[in-house]
Amino acid sequence: MSLLQNLRRRLITGPVMQDWPGLIEAYRGWLPVSDATPVVTLHEGATPLIPVPSVAERIGRGVKVYVKYDGLNPTGSFKDRGMTMAISKAKEVGCEAVICASTGNTSAAAAAYARRAGMRAFVLIPDGYVAQGKLAQALVYGAEVLAIRGNFDRALDIVREAAESYPVTLVNSVNPYRLQGQKTAAFEVIDALGNAPDWLCIPMGNAGNITAYWMGFQEYYQAGHSRTLPRMMGFQASGSAPLVHNTTVEDPNTIATAIRIGNPVNRDKALAAREGSNGAFLDVTDAEIIEAYKLLGGQEGIFCEPASAASVAGLLKRSAEVPEGATVVCVLTGNGLKDPDCAINNNDAAFHTDLDPNLETVAKVMGF
Ligand code: F0G
Repeated sequence: MSLLQNLRRRLITGPVMQDWPGLIEAYRGWLPVSDATPVVTLHEGATPLIPVPSVAERIGRGVKVYVKYDGLNPTGSFKDRGMTMAISKAKEVGCEAVICASTGNTSAAAAAYARRAGMRAFVLIPDGYVAQGKLAQALVYGAEVLAIRGNFDRALDIVREAAESYPVTLVNSVNPYRLQGQKTAAFEVIDALGNAPDWLCIPMGNAGNITAYWMGFQEYYQAGHSRTLPRMMGFQASGSAPLVHNTTVEDPNTIATAIRIGNPVNRDKALAAREGSNGAFLDVTDAEIIEAYKLLGGQEGIFCEPASAASVAGLLKRSAEVPEGATVVCVLTGNGLKDPDCAINNNDAAFHTDLDPNLETVAKVMGF
């Protein structure tokens, strides 16, 4: 029995989750680590693949839809998968400080893992365009936060230069170890389904994650762990869709601030994933993103951030093309708690305020 099967068996029979060692140990043979690599982990990975029948019902024709809820990682996003690798490898070579540009999630993950490894973490963010939860995390995890008057693309230019000039390691997705770690999400999807899905729907910003998933699907396929490969379906917000329109967007704009990126650094790799998988890219409006966000929260009990809902919004927009009986996985990249402002401003909840503190009033409001 392989290490992984052994671990999975213990997960099923033992005290829940106690035995999951984090993705580097779980997938060690698939990753560029050795005995000399000090594993820096928060036991990330092993996130659930959850059926979402209300989404499937909207498509009909026997289609099965699941979400890969990566918002349940330790810092609340898929970035932890890449960061456990990037920080472990940085520590292996004696690095004392890391730097990244971020729309928020990368900075939270970089800060958490770097501080755990005893390193300084410098994070550059676009001032005013990072969701509150993410900013709170970077501060609490002890990062040195530099908010610039400029967008993510400008911040990335600066940190790339900084990493060339100063003793700091870059941990954005241009760091190859990031994508190595992130590819494990594709392994987990196949481990859970027994095969690759027919479609993999995923939001795209800098396009690292779609690249990493495609790498993971191909590696498992080549090793005989999957009989098929998925079509890679990448989605961007309409106000920030450089990959969909094969262009650069000077002033990207969307409610989904996580994917507010006008010049994706992994552009060529994303295009290769689309071509290699017979996939497609499409944009979704902010209104479509919010509709999917509310559907997941209000019907399925799954709270994701708006960028993540783009994967479900995209699937619904293309639903006519989903083959009958197909299996679809939508990646929910980040937790809804990351962006409380979006949640408070975009819901259909009955929220009654300023009530008199007595049963009569409460009962009346309840309709009894
Ligand atoms: N979803 C969320 C929640 C993200 O935070 C990001 C990227 C993406 C999707 C897109 O992933 O860039 O690999 O295509 N966030 C980065 C950050 C840019 O700084 O946190 P991608």
